[in-house]
Amino acid sequence: MLQLVGWQQPPELREVPEPGPGQVLVKVGGAGACHSDLHIMEAPGPPPGFATQLPFTLGHENAGWVERLGPGVTGFEPKDPVMVYGPWGCGICANCREGRENYCQKISGQGGGLGGGYDGGMAEYLLVPAARFLIPLGILDPRQAAPLSDAGLTGYHAVKRSAHLLGAGSTAVVIGVGGLGQMAIQMVRALSAATTVVAVDTDPGKLETAKRMGADEALLSGEEAVTRIKDMTGQQGAQLVLDMVGIDPTLRMAAQVARMLGHLTIVGLGGGALPVNFSSPPHECSVASPYWGSLPELMEVITLAQQQKIKMLLEYFPLEHANEAYQLLHDGKIQGRAVITPTNEYRPQGDRAGAGRRNCRRKRHEGGGRCDRWTGPVADGTASGGPGSGACDGDGRQADECGLSVLAMTENAFRPVAAALRPYLIVAADVRGRSPRRG
Ligand SMILES: NC(=O)c1ccc[n+]([C@@H]2O[C@H](COP(=O)([O-])OP(=O)(O)OC[C@H]3O[C@@H](n4cnc5c(N)ncnc54)[C@H](O)[C@@H]3O)[C@@H](O)[C@H]2O)c1
Ligand SMILES: [Zn+2]
Ligand SMILES: [Zn+2]
Repeated sequence: MLQLVGWQQPPELREVPEPGPGQVLVKVGGAGACHSDLHIMEAPGPPPGFATQLPFTLGHENAGWVERLGPGVTGFEPKDPVMVYGPWGCGICANCREGRENYCQKISGQGGGLGGGYDGGMAEYLLVPAARFLIPLGILDPRQAAPLSDAGLTGYHAVKRSAHLLGAGSTAVVIGVGGLGQMAIQMVRALSAATTVVAVDTDPGKLETAKRMGADEALLSGEEAVTRIKDMTGQQGAQLVLDMVGIDPTLRMAAQVARMLGHLTIVGLGGGALPVNFSSPPHECSVASPYWGSLPELMEVITLAQQQKIKMLLEYFPLEHANEAYQLLHDGKIQGRAVITPTNEYRPQGDRAGAGRRNCRRKRHEGGGRCDRWTGPVADGTASGGPGSGACDGDGRQADECGLSVLAMTENAFRPVAAALRPYLIVAADVRGRSPRRG
């Protein structure tokens, strides 16, 4: 497990836990590397409101397979693929009873991986304190589904609470289109097809990805973006502005492009401050700082993924390369989401320590380059992609979405998953230092 052992120090690899009454031991398939982990690592001490004790295991965005049930636990079987709902509340307070354990009134709802007394998923096994935090994944593979539990859920919740504003001709602006922002774009798409989605980022590569994820406009962060959004909206501004960065310049921009009666939603933990006075943000524009999402919302996100309505660029790293993933995230070089895959039974061929990346035949024959077709796992429980697996023939017949490289899956990869696999929802890709492009 990857533990944070000192403030402002890189995390270190340490040893494993055991399950007790009511608990479930989960074999971790994927643990997403979230930018919040970087904020925690870079903090000089426990962040405000966090009951943080060192050492603890990082990784609050997890999915895996049930390994062992503690005494008294029913409803799951070993090897069941499960999503781990991250904010672990008390289960008894009013908010928890309404399904909003992210706003537990008794304990912080921090969950594992955030230092609230529980270890996270950057480990081979994750101890989950109660079975209610597990959601069956059905046809989804935990290694690909893990980012849904935070990047997906947080984006979904942030959009859904404003869905009533997203009527005909409405505009939503997403500032910062990394892991969370790319999901948020798709959540606007999923919850309101009538809304124009504008992506804003400092990185042209991210903007290109944002377009692939459904953004109508992609703008470089700055004054020109403000002018363009104002022009697009008849000088009114956007109904919903999501700031996935949360630093002074982005908050300032958010206030400039929000409209009267709109929502300005601060998701990013950048530590900036939003100046508020009578005329800014605009009149009756509500400001909110949502934290994560509810358990029922995570079930909705999982359904969207099962229906292939959302996708994400993923880069896989073995546990021993987790620090590299964080370094790349810090440097802005993760195009979508970095996912740590701790179990050695499965190692995607395209991971950074993998035995070489596989190109599909067409690309190889055309003189190299990476395959631009993602064909996904196929129905017999094996997976397609790359010449070794034999299923990707480069004509993309099975593909309904393209990644930059086919991540060749081994047969082992999908053995624990139900037989009824179908082409995947999530684009697997390796995009280190490269801009996404269409095939
Ligand atoms: N509120 C919550 O519950 C919650 C949950 C998860 C993450 N977060 C926070 O959300 C933020 C995003 O997390 P992530 O994992 O998606 O990070 P990420 O690093 O994947 O994405 C951040 C994006 O912001 C862009 N960016 C940086 N400066 C910018 C600027 N000035 N203008 C426009 N874009 C800019 C980067 O280029 C990058 O694409 C982090 O602060 C994280 O801590 C909040
Ligand atoms: Zn997070
Ligand atoms: Zn509670």
